[in-house]
Amino acid sequence: MKQPQPIANIVLGVTGGIAAYKSAMLVRRLRDAGYAVRVVMTAGAQAFITPLTFQALSGHPVHTTLLDPEAEAGMGHIELARWADLVLVAPASADVLARLAAGLADDLLTTLVLATAAPVYVAPAMNQQMWANRITQRNLKTLRDHGVQVIEPASGEQACGDVGAGRMPEPDDLVQVVQAALDPVQPAQHLAGLHVVITAGPTREALDPVRYISNHSSGKMGFALADACRDAGARVTLIAGPVSLATPLGVERINIGSARDLLAQSLAVVEAGCDIFIATAAVADYRPEVVADHKIKKSGEITEIRLVKNPDVVATIAQHAKRPFVVGFAAETQNVEAYARGKLANKQLDMIACNDVSRADIGFASDENAMHVFFSDRYGFEMVTLDKASKTEIARRLVDCIEQARRS
Ligand code: C5P
Repeated sequence: MKQPQPIANIVLGVTGGIAAYKSAMLVRRLRDAGYAVRVVMTAGAQAFITPLTFQALSGHPVHTTLLDPEAEAGMGHIELARWADLVLVAPASADVLARLAAGLADDLLTTLVLATAAPVYVAPAMNQQMWANRITQRNLKTLRDHGVQVIEPASGEQACGDVGAGRMPEPDDLVQVVQAALDPVQPAQHLAGLHVVITAGPTREALDPVRYISNHSSGKMGFALADACRDAGARVTLIAGPVSLATPLGVERINIGSARDLLAQSLAVVEAGCDIFIATAAVADYRPEVVADHKIKKSGEITEIRLVKNPDVVATIAQHAKRPFVVGFAAETQNVEAYARGKLANKQLDMIACNDVSRADIGFASDENAMHVFFSDRYGFEMVTLDKASKTEIARRLVDCIEQARRS
């Protein structure tokens, strides 16, 4: 029977890690989705799973060595690099990330990545401590700076018993990333080539080592915006307070605690250069003046806590010499328009999206939202009303608003 033409060619690089077993299912899912798949395995990968498994699933011999005359006579590393429409390394071990970041070409996979003109995606998977290690994070930054797309690992229980970030995303999620990367019918790439920074979630202001002041922000709006900006082609950095949401695929996440942490991380990314700054975080306006070194005891009879004002993150960014396009959010319970326009001017924002949180059906923890969007006078735009819709849909429309203002 004649096979349908593959819609694109994927080289799947498999490296050494327990998540390699998921890559077997990934091959099947990629083929189900219509892709032709060739598998390249590192020596480490073969300690976890055999080439034969991938040969059976991909329908082709697996490539394992760089200078094997027999293999090179068939499809050698340069042909393989040219054949690929996309290279996906999943799982990508800490070791391969380091070798790729260093530009090494000491095995077939690293050589192929250097030799290909196709987009390269890596799905890191490793122990959470190895993931958090600054050397790994430095390598990831180097790779991102050189155009490699890093698919953020999921969080959860790990094979080693630890809990944290470092799990390879599920095969279906990875297929979605590949489809989004290769599918010509994508959402308009309004933000292609731009770096968007989004603050999200609450902050926590410590009273002592075990207690803090915070708020009920769920972070959902900021995370939905991260999805929408990524889908519009942007590189996205999400600076998130403590929320129980999974990191959107392909988005770089920086976790923060206090408002001052948020400010420090925001300044660092703005100073490194970004194009759009979207502040959805519900930043605590005040923090305790003194953070007790030890747990405050009941016997102490404390009846007052002195508070001091926190820095205004979005206003600080709006006044920065390397000011990006700055978007603020406002949650109001009355006089929505007057307060929103006031904040737009006082914080020197380009745009502000405002919702009425006195309505129980929208806002904070809800999955839906409705917004009024106001623009700085220099854009000469009318207010835009975004009717009640899912936060996902509202996020898409906000991206359209940002794009229109930036283009005007
Ligand atoms: O002044 P208000 O808190 O209502 O302003 C809300 C907007 O300002 C949001 O975009 C929020 O993320 C941002 N904000 C901030 N830093 C603060 C307070 C608010 O970035 N300290």
